[in-house]
Amino acid sequence: MHLVRLVYVSTVLADLDLNELSKLAQTNNLKHNLSGLLAFDRKYFIQVVEGGRTAVSGLLANLFSDPRHKDVVILEFDYVDKRDFGQWSMQFVPLDTSMKQTIFKHSVGKTFDPYGFTKNSALSFLMDIRPAVTGK
Ligand SMILES: Cc1cc2nc3c(=O)[nH]c(=O)nc-3n(C[C@H](O)[C@H](O)[C@H](O)COP(=O)(O)O)c2cc1C
Repeated sequence: MHLVRLVYVSTVLADLDLNELSKLAQTNNLKHNLSGLLAFDRKYFIQVVEGGRTAVSGLLANLFSDPRHKDVVILEFDYVDKRDFGQWSMQFVPLDTSMKQTIFKHSVGKTFDPYGFTKNSALSFLMDIRPAVTGK
């Protein structure tokens, strides 16, 4: 299998049902052997998706035309040797105040703006918020 990792950011559009979206993402991703994490606040999404290149490419096509968000910008689409987010079919992570320190460490300005991320800072941010997800 050709394993790839996709990282992108986008801007939330109104009328978003996060419960519905997380159910859809988790069901689909289990089916296609995709894993990852989706962090969001009221304005932005940043998502990492790992899996076979065909499945990830198919999702990417859907994402570009999904009316629930806009301004999709790809930060990374790379071949990788292993999964770093393999325990989650798609974990939704609200970026609340308890994560502020992690957010500020990786943000250029004073607020969370994922469009300021580079490929590397995005990945280290996503790695850093993993403990908050597992509760460790
Ligand atoms: C921010 C965001 C993240 C999403 N993440 C996923 C995902 O991880 N997996 C997925 O299948 N769909 C995800 N979607 C939904 C897709 O854009 C698309 O609606 C879905 O893949 C279509 O599935 P269907 O063909 O079963 O209707 C996401 C949508 C948004 C707006």
